[in-house]
Amino acid sequence: MHCDLEHRWAIVVAMTTVVDPPTHAQSTADIPSLVASAAADGLVLAVVAKTDLADGVCELTFADPAGRRLPDWAPGAHIDVILPGDLVRQYSLCGDRWDPFHYRIAVLRESDGRGGSAYIHDTLAVGDRLPIGGPRNNFALVPAHRYVFIAGGIGVTPILPMLDHADRLGTPWALTYVGRSARSMAFATELSADPRVTVWPSVERGPFDLATVFADDLTKAKVYSCGPERLLDAVRAAGADLPAGSLRIEHFVPRRLSAPVRDRSFDVELRRSGVTVSVTPETSVLEAVGAAGVPMLSSCRQGTCGTCEATVLDGTPDHRDSLLADDERSRNDCMFLCVSRSCSDRLVLDL
Ligand code: FES
Repeated sequence: MHCDLEHRWAIVVAMTTVVDPPTHAQSTADIPSLVASAAADGLVLAVVAKTDLADGVCELTFADPAGRRLPDWAPGAHIDVILPGDLVRQYSLCGDRWDPFHYRIAVLRESDGRGGSAYIHDTLAVGDRLPIGGPRNNFALVPAHRYVFIAGGIGVTPILPMLDHADRLGTPWALTYVGRSARSMAFATELSADPRVTVWPSVERGPFDLATVFADDLTKAKVYSCGPERLLDAVRAAGADLPAGSLRIEHFVPRRLSAPVRDRSFDVELRRSGVTVSVTPETSVLEAVGAAGVPMLSSCRQGTCGTCEATVLDGTPDHRDSLLADDERSRNDCMFLCVSRSCSDRLVLDL
């Protein structure tokens, strides 16, 4: 597609100074539910390898201490890493999905973070054990004639297993990988050997112009992007004219949202539980469901992790998450209870 000039300002991404807080890990506060989730998953994994990948980026490999197989996952999936000090971080799995015994993640040191990545970089050692939640996948690779991947910084990690998967499917793909400098870009050396990959360290090459990616006819492609919010905004603007469902974006920080559709209370019927709760403007659906005694796992409480997904049987949700693509939103068959609300007077959930 061709981008109009009004959008062009938005798609020139000045990566020269890309130091946005990494969008690849986020803090969460609901540790008990996360630990419960990890316990339910039965995962307490050991760090079996730790390697420096690039400036400020290390790679961890986890395995079950008893050598058991790990739960299966698909490209785009992430795990919750539960750290001491009530810190939970979510990281995309970037290793070989066909290896049933190991999970690999890459961790960027967050200079302005709350200590989770610093702990991983400075303290966590081979042999340490951590509760792990998931894996969960909010960024699944859907069938396509071809794939266009756009990654920024550490956002390349969920893309890596997708490249291998696309190769196995025989589906053409191209990756644009932008970052600050080659030294700070994990996996850049390996990726740059592939002619389908454009590695763009902007300190050396200048700002990257996304219009070069969207100048192609992408009507039959699926475009996947993960990276700093500024990059994602630019990708969203550049891909605004693509067919519904073509653009798929992985957020690790919540999207900026407008006000809820309604400012009045609404009812939520929990069909299997036989309970109806009233959700006031001051409470979330998640809180109302919990107060009614219906257990519901949650993690980020920001609409980014996917833990609190519920099936919608009736009514129209006001989707306020950062997970669903436009076509998924329009189906109105699921919602994320921590942030999403209701457009209708009543919602019926399969809970
Ligand atoms: S708790 Fe993470 S999306 Fe709701």
